[in-house]
Amino acid sequence: MNVYDGERMAELMAAQGLTAAADAGSADLVVLNTCHIREKATEKVYSDIGRLRKHGKDPMIAVAGCVAQAEGEEIVRRAKVDVVVGPQAYHNLPQLVADAAAGKAALDTDMPIASKFGALPRRRKVGPSAFLTVQEGCDKFCTYCVVPYTRGAEVSRPFAAIVDEAKALVDAGAREITLLGQNVNAWDDAEGTGLHGLIAALDRIEGLARIRYTTSHPNDMREGLIRAHAEVEKLMPFLHLPVQSGSDRVLKAMNRSHSRDSYLRILDRVRAARPDIALSGDFIVGFPGETDAEFEATLSLVDAVGYAQCFSFKYSPRPGTPAADMADQIAAEVMDERLQRLQASLNRHQAAFNAATAGRTCPVLIERTGKLPGQMLGKSPWLQSVHLLTDAKIGDLIDVEIVRADPNSLSGVQRARVAA
Ligand code: 5AD
Ligand code: SF4
Repeated sequence: MNVYDGERMAELMAAQGLTAAADAGSADLVVLNTCHIREKATEKVYSDIGRLRKHGKDPMIAVAGCVAQAEGEEIVRRAKVDVVVGPQAYHNLPQLVADAAAGKAALDTDMPIASKFGALPRRRKVGPSAFLTVQEGCDKFCTYCVVPYTRGAEVSRPFAAIVDEAKALVDAGAREITLLGQNVNAWDDAEGTGLHGLIAALDRIEGLARIRYTTSHPNDMREGLIRAHAEVEKLMPFLHLPVQSGSDRVLKAMNRSHSRDSYLRILDRVRAARPDIALSGDFIVGFPGETDAEFEATLSLVDAVGYAQCFSFKYSPRPGTPAADMADQIAAEVMDERLQRLQASLNRHQAAFNAATAGRTCPVLIERTGKLPGQMLGKSPWLQSVHLLTDAKIGDLIDVEIVRADPNSLSGVQRARVAA
């Protein structure tokens, strides 16, 4: 989502006549779009500011994103920055930059009722795979998570605005659209269209070849969306469905409002609809009070699911969240060891999933050039990176036989061009 927000801010500033600098050292304005989800991400912004200030040019610095939202004026106190703008206020970035240039205070962390999206310029040229934010914020309040505080309440963008933006993206060169939201599968409108209804509308856009969506919550996995995985050809066989832990005691303490079993039952239904689906998830190790046995339950869930790929993190206490004040915070060494074991297991599953693709022929969307002459990089339907030697162009969808599977990518040979 930060990539999407970054693109929209770049478009806003381009409309003011600014062009992209080759690197931060030659820029007049640097916008740091920040993440507050874990402490490490938050600290990064302060080291980045320090590095920028050391260079000779001394650019104007704007801090955007969730660190801006959470820390507000604290950032101005801690570091020399010119603009602070939260994730729901970035449509005001040009005005804030103008204010800062005039020597005025430039801080906006409002969460206005009217959405920022209406105030953004039309999409310009994009790559073959584009993001489209359809839903923002979260009402789930998992006890470890800052998102409900930094991004605000769950809000769905209107159906017509999304379909318009999707068409604009396709006109601008997109062949694949990934619908984004903190709880994207909670997207809905007054008519109860649901994410599957939105996907059906995108399915009708000529020139659009692939649809994806991320991130979903288990409790919002409605029957219509599961059915869409069986019925909508453009909907790619990939589901990112975070579970966080395999232990019911920990899930309850996290306020996840699903159990290990209810999660596994959802995946059974998804697999029944789309047997080849690639599954992905998020995990947190070392949540306060997590015992060895509870961690083992996470490992056994990983084996039960057989994920194609995953993200996994050490628990990071975030200011203002209930879990930060819980007893039994887990020692750093214990978290390190658990993360290593979990990631070793996830890597084995990913390698096995990739290995199972070898020998198959599948459509690959070419996204960029590779390092070797004539080499191109693209994505399989299951979101694996595929490299191959081809004269196909960026944006082409070609049939590729997978001849080699490595743990992190696949190599292929072109078989045919797929009709649009
Ligand atoms: N510590 C560690 N990981 C976290 N996540 C969210 N909050 C925290 C935290 N405090 C992870 C979750 C979520 C992903 C986006 O980030 O796994 O799904
Ligand atoms: Fe955070 Fe996701 Fe939980 Fe919402 S559902 S509070 S975004 S982890």
